[in-house]
Amino acid sequence: MNNPEEFVERASRFLKQQRELYGDFSVRLEEEVKEAEKTEEAHEPEVAFESDAEHSSPKPESTELEVETKVELTPAQRIAKCATLDELRALCEQDEKLRTDLEGTNLVFGVGNANANLMIIGEAPGQNEDQQGEPFVGQAGQMLDKIMEAINFKREDIYITNILKHRPPDNRDPKAEESQRSLPYLLRQIELVDPKLILCVGRISATILLNKDTTLKNLRQKFHPFHGRELMATYHPAALLRNKQWKRPAWEDVQMLRKRYDELMKEG
Ligand code: URA
Repeated sequence: MNNPEEFVERASRFLKQQRELYGDFSVRLEEEVKEAEKTEEAHEPEVAFESDAEHSSPKPESTELEVETKVELTPAQRIAKCATLDELRALCEQDEKLRTDLEGTNLVFGVGNANANLMIIGEAPGQNEDQQGEPFVGQAGQMLDKIMEAINFKREDIYITNILKHRPPDNRDPKAEESQRSLPYLLRQIELVDPKLILCVGRISATILLNKDTTLKNLRQKFHPFHGRELMATYHPAALLRNKQWKRPAWEDVQMLRKRYDELMKEG
Protein backbone atom coordinates (compact mmCIF):
# COMPACT_ATOMS: atom_id res chain seq x y z
CA MET A 1 0.00 0.00 0.00
CA ASN A 2 1.78 3.12 -1.30
CA ASN A 3 -0.81 5.77 -0.52
CA PRO A 4 -0.27 7.09 3.07
CA GLU A 5 -3.76 8.63 3.17
CA GLU A 6 -5.29 5.29 2.32
CA PHE A 7 -3.17 3.70 5.14
CA VAL A 8 -4.36 6.28 7.70
CA GLU A 9 -7.98 5.79 6.64
CA ARG A 10 -7.75 2.01 6.95
CA ALA A 11 -6.00 2.24 10.28
CA SER A 12 -8.64 4.59 11.73
CA ARG A 13 -11.42 2.32 10.43
CA PHE A 14 -9.76 -0.63 12.17
CA LEU A 15 -9.47 1.28 15.44
CA LYS A 16 -13.13 2.34 15.24
CA GLN A 17 -14.18 -1.29 14.85
CA GLN A 18 -12.04 -2.28 17.83
CA ARG A 19 -13.59 0.45 19.97
CA GLU A 20 -17.06 -0.73 19.02
CA LEU A 21 -16.13 -4.24 20.01
CA TYR A 22 -14.14 -3.62 23.20
CA GLY A 23 -15.01 -0.06 24.26
CA ASP A 24 -12.59 2.79 24.95
CA PHE A 25 -8.97 1.95 25.38
CA SER A 26 -5.74 3.76 25.77
CA VAL A 27 -2.22 2.74 25.00
CA ARG A 28 -0.09 2.24 28.09
CA LEU A 29 3.62 2.98 28.11
CA GLU A 30 5.97 0.14 29.10
CA GLU A 31 6.79 1.80 32.49
CA GLU A 32 3.10 2.22 33.24
CA VAL A 33 2.51 -1.49 32.59
CA LYS A 34 5.34 -2.49 34.96
CA GLU A 35 4.05 -0.16 37.70
CA ALA A 36 0.54 -1.56 37.35
CA GLU A 37 1.81 -5.14 37.61
CA LYS A 38 3.62 -4.30 40.86
CA THR A 39 0.45 -2.84 42.38
CA GLU A 40 -1.63 -5.85 41.27
CA GLU A 41 0.88 -8.25 42.94
CA ALA A 42 0.66 -6.26 46.16
CA HIS A 43 -3.12 -6.68 46.21
CA GLU A 44 -3.25 -10.31 45.22
CA PRO A 45 -5.29 -12.28 47.80
CA GLU A 46 -3.07 -14.50 50.01
CA VAL A 47 -5.06 -17.64 49.27
CA ALA A 48 -6.40 -17.79 45.78
CA PHE A 49 -7.68 -21.40 45.76
CA GLU A 50 -8.82 -23.84 48.38
CA SER A 51 -6.07 -26.26 47.39
CA ASP A 52 -3.48 -23.52 47.96
CA ALA A 53 -4.75 -23.13 51.50
CA GLU A 54 -3.62 -26.67 52.33
CA HIS A 55 -0.06 -25.76 51.47
CA SER A 56 -0.07 -22.35 53.06
CA SER A 57 1.29 -21.70 56.56
CA PRO A 58 -0.56 -23.63 59.35
CA LYS A 59 -3.63 -22.06 60.91
CA PRO A 60 -3.19 -20.63 64.40
CA GLU A 61 -4.50 -23.15 67.00
CA SER A 62 -7.46 -21.08 67.98
CA THR A 63 -8.89 -17.96 66.48
CA GLU A 64 -10.22 -15.12 68.59
CA LEU A 65 -13.75 -16.24 67.75
CA GLU A 66 -13.12 -19.81 68.99
CA VAL A 67 -11.64 -18.55 72.25
CA GLU A 68 -14.71 -16.43 72.83
CA THR A 69 -17.07 -19.36 72.23
CA LYS A 70 -15.16 -21.98 74.34
CA VAL A 71 -17.46 -23.22 77.12
CA GLU A 72 -16.39 -24.41 80.57
CA LEU A 73 -17.30 -28.09 81.01
CA THR A 74 -19.35 -29.06 84.05
CA PRO A 75 -17.76 -31.62 86.46
CA ALA A 76 -20.14 -34.29 85.09
CA GLN A 77 -19.08 -33.50 81.51
CA ARG A 78 -15.40 -33.68 82.46
CA ILE A 79 -15.98 -37.13 84.00
CA ALA A 80 -17.96 -38.34 80.98
CA LYS A 81 -15.19 -37.10 78.66
CA CYS A 82 -12.62 -39.43 80.28
CA ALA A 83 -12.02 -42.19 77.75
CA THR A 84 -9.54 -44.22 79.81
CA LEU A 85 -8.96 -45.15 83.45
CA ASP A 86 -5.73 -43.13 83.36
CA GLU A 87 -7.64 -40.01 82.33
CA LEU A 88 -10.19 -40.63 85.08
CA ARG A 89 -7.46 -41.19 87.66
CA ALA A 90 -5.83 -37.88 86.61
CA LEU A 91 -9.18 -36.12 87.08
CA CYS A 92 -9.57 -37.71 90.55
CA GLU A 93 -6.07 -36.44 91.46
CA GLN A 94 -7.23 -32.88 90.70
CA ASP A 95 -10.54 -33.07 92.57
CA GLU A 96 -10.09 -31.86 96.13
CA LYS A 97 -13.75 -32.70 96.81
CA LEU A 98 -12.89 -36.42 96.81
CA ARG A 99 -10.85 -35.93 99.98
CA THR A 100 -12.25 -36.70 103.42
CA ASP A 101 -11.52 -34.58 106.49
CA LEU A 102 -8.28 -36.49 107.03
CA GLU A 103 -5.51 -34.28 105.66
CA GLY A 104 -2.64 -35.34 103.43
CA THR A 105 -4.06 -38.65 102.20
CA ASN A 106 -3.11 -40.25 98.89
CA LEU A 107 -5.53 -41.10 96.11
CA VAL A 108 -6.46 -44.80 96.09
CA PHE A 109 -8.06 -45.06 92.67
CA GLY A 110 -8.28 -48.75 91.82
CA VAL A 111 -6.15 -51.63 90.64
CA GLY A 112 -6.25 -54.69 88.41
CA ASN A 113 -7.39 -55.75 85.00
CA ALA A 114 -8.81 -52.74 83.14
CA ASN A 115 -11.02 -55.09 81.10
CA ALA A 116 -12.05 -57.38 83.94
CA ASN A 117 -15.44 -59.06 83.87
CA LEU A 118 -15.52 -59.08 87.66
CA MET A 119 -15.18 -55.88 89.66
CA ILE A 120 -14.90 -55.85 93.44
CA ILE A 121 -15.99 -52.75 95.34
CA GLY A 122 -15.17 -52.07 98.98
CA GLU A 123 -16.01 -49.01 101.03
CA ALA A 124 -12.87 -46.91 101.60
CA PRO A 125 -9.09 -47.24 101.86
CA GLY A 126 -7.51 -47.90 105.25
CA GLN A 127 -4.06 -46.92 106.49
CA ASN A 128 -2.09 -49.48 104.43
CA GLU A 129 -4.06 -48.67 101.30
CA ASP A 130 -3.47 -44.95 101.81
CA GLN A 131 0.27 -45.51 102.23
CA GLN A 132 0.57 -47.73 99.16
CA GLY A 133 -2.06 -45.99 96.99
CA GLU A 134 -3.71 -49.36 96.27
CA PRO A 135 -6.98 -50.87 97.53
CA PHE A 136 -7.09 -53.98 99.74
CA VAL A 137 -3.39 -54.41 100.49
CA GLY A 138 -3.64 -54.81 104.29
CA GLN A 139 -4.96 -57.77 106.29
CA ALA A 140 -8.42 -57.45 104.74
CA GLY A 141 -6.75 -57.48 101.34
CA GLN A 142 -4.94 -60.73 102.12
CA MET A 143 -8.24 -62.24 103.16
CA LEU A 144 -9.82 -61.04 99.93
CA ASP A 145 -6.98 -62.66 97.93
CA LYS A 146 -7.67 -65.98 99.70
CA ILE A 147 -11.38 -65.80 98.94
CA MET A 148 -10.68 -65.07 95.29
CA GLU A 149 -8.11 -67.87 95.04
CA ALA A 150 -10.66 -70.27 96.51
CA ILE A 151 -12.89 -69.63 93.48
CA ASN A 152 -9.98 -69.61 91.01
CA PHE A 153 -9.51 -65.90 90.46
CA LYS A 154 -6.15 -64.17 90.57
CA ARG A 155 -5.74 -60.45 91.24
CA GLU A 156 -4.84 -60.01 87.55
CA ASP A 157 -8.28 -61.34 86.54
CA ILE A 158 -10.27 -58.79 88.49
CA TYR A 159 -10.51 -55.05 89.05
CA ILE A 160 -10.70 -53.76 92.64
CA THR A 161 -11.76 -50.35 93.90
CA ASN A 162 -13.69 -48.61 96.68
CA ILE A 163 -16.60 -46.20 97.01
CA LEU A 164 -14.28 -43.54 98.50
CA LYS A 165 -10.97 -42.74 96.85
CA HIS A 166 -9.41 -41.29 100.01
CA ARG A 167 -9.06 -42.69 103.52
CA PRO A 168 -11.52 -41.39 106.13
CA PRO A 169 -10.20 -40.58 109.62
CA ASP A 170 -10.13 -43.52 112.10
CA ASN A 171 -11.45 -45.75 109.29
CA ARG A 172 -14.97 -44.47 109.96
CA ASP A 173 -17.81 -45.26 107.55
CA PRO A 174 -18.09 -42.97 104.52
CA LYS A 175 -20.39 -39.99 105.12
CA ALA A 176 -23.36 -39.73 102.76
CA GLU A 177 -22.03 -36.54 101.15
CA GLU A 178 -18.56 -38.09 100.65
CA SER A 179 -20.11 -41.07 98.89
CA GLN A 180 -22.27 -38.81 96.72
CA ARG A 181 -19.21 -36.82 95.63
CA SER A 182 -17.35 -40.04 94.77
CA LEU A 183 -20.19 -41.81 92.99
CA PRO A 184 -19.97 -40.07 89.57
CA TYR A 185 -16.31 -41.10 89.37
CA LEU A 186 -17.04 -44.66 90.45
CA LEU A 187 -19.88 -44.99 87.93
CA ARG A 188 -17.57 -43.85 85.12
CA GLN A 189 -14.90 -46.25 86.41
CA ILE A 190 -17.44 -49.09 86.17
CA GLU A 191 -18.40 -48.01 82.64
CA LEU A 192 -14.75 -47.94 81.54
CA VAL A 193 -13.86 -51.36 83.00
CA ASP A 194 -17.24 -52.65 81.83
CA PRO A 195 -17.50 -55.77 84.03
CA LYS A 196 -20.33 -58.26 83.68
CA LEU A 197 -20.46 -58.81 87.44
CA ILE A 198 -19.86 -56.59 90.46
CA LEU A 199 -19.18 -57.98 93.92
CA CYS A 200 -19.76 -55.51 96.73
CA VAL A 201 -17.85 -56.53 99.82
CA GLY A 202 -19.75 -55.34 102.87
CA ARG A 203 -23.18 -53.86 103.41
CA ILE A 204 -21.98 -50.28 102.98
CA SER A 205 -20.80 -50.42 99.38
CA ALA A 206 -23.84 -52.47 98.32
CA THR A 207 -26.38 -50.14 99.94
CA ILE A 208 -24.68 -47.06 98.47
CA LEU A 209 -24.60 -48.48 94.94
CA LEU A 210 -28.11 -49.93 95.07
CA ASN A 211 -29.39 -46.84 96.90
CA LYS A 212 -31.26 -49.09 99.36
CA ASP A 213 -30.95 -48.88 103.12
CA THR A 214 -31.15 -52.53 104.15
CA THR A 215 -29.20 -55.34 105.81
CA LEU A 216 -26.55 -57.52 104.23
CA LYS A 217 -28.77 -60.51 105.03
CA ASN A 218 -31.42 -59.05 102.71
CA LEU A 219 -28.93 -58.28 99.97
CA ARG A 220 -26.78 -61.43 99.75
CA GLN A 221 -27.51 -64.62 97.83
CA LYS A 222 -29.05 -62.76 94.88
CA PHE A 223 -28.00 -60.89 91.79
CA HIS A 224 -29.27 -57.32 91.66
CA PRO A 225 -29.64 -55.56 88.30
CA PHE A 226 -27.26 -52.63 88.16
CA HIS A 227 -26.87 -50.40 85.08
CA GLY A 228 -27.13 -53.32 82.68
CA ARG A 229 -24.90 -55.53 84.85
CA GLU A 230 -25.40 -57.81 87.84
CA LEU A 231 -24.37 -56.94 91.36
CA MET A 232 -23.94 -59.26 94.31
CA ALA A 233 -23.17 -58.48 97.95
CA THR A 234 -21.26 -60.52 100.49
CA TYR A 235 -19.43 -60.07 103.80
CA HIS A 236 -16.51 -57.66 104.03
CA PRO A 237 -13.21 -59.58 104.37
CA ALA A 238 -12.37 -57.54 107.50
CA ALA A 239 -15.66 -58.73 109.03
CA LEU A 240 -14.72 -62.35 108.23
CA LEU A 241 -11.44 -61.87 110.13
CA ARG A 242 -13.45 -60.88 113.20
CA ASN A 243 -16.39 -63.27 112.79
CA LYS A 244 -15.30 -66.75 111.78
CA GLN A 245 -18.94 -67.98 111.71
CA TRP A 246 -19.56 -65.86 108.62
CA LYS A 247 -16.95 -67.70 106.56
CA ARG A 248 -19.37 -70.46 105.61
CA PRO A 249 -22.11 -68.17 104.22
CA ALA A 250 -19.42 -66.05 102.52
CA TRP A 251 -18.14 -69.22 100.85
CA GLU A 252 -21.64 -69.98 99.59
CA ASP A 253 -21.92 -66.44 98.19
CA VAL A 254 -18.68 -66.56 96.25
CA GLN A 255 -19.42 -70.01 94.87
CA MET A 256 -22.68 -68.65 93.55
CA LEU A 257 -20.74 -65.72 92.10
CA ARG A 258 -18.25 -68.00 90.32
CA LYS A 259 -21.06 -70.06 88.83
CA ARG A 260 -22.82 -66.97 87.48
CA TYR A 261 -19.53 -65.60 86.16
CA ASP A 262 -18.91 -68.80 84.21
CA GLU A 263 -22.45 -68.72 82.82
CA LEU A 264 -22.09 -65.10 81.71
CA MET A 265 -18.74 -65.82 80.09
CA LYS A 266 -20.28 -68.72 78.15
CA GLU A 267 -23.12 -66.45 76.99
CA GLY A 268 -20.43 -64.09 75.67
N1 URA B 1 -11.42 -51.99 103.33
C1 URA B 1 -12.03 -51.51 102.24
O1 URA B 1 -13.25 -51.42 102.17
N2 URA B 1 -11.27 -51.13 101.24
C2 URA B 1 -9.94 -51.22 101.25
O2 URA B 1 -9.32 -50.84 100.25
C3 URA B 1 -9.33 -51.74 102.39
C4 URA B 1 -10.08 -52.12 103.43
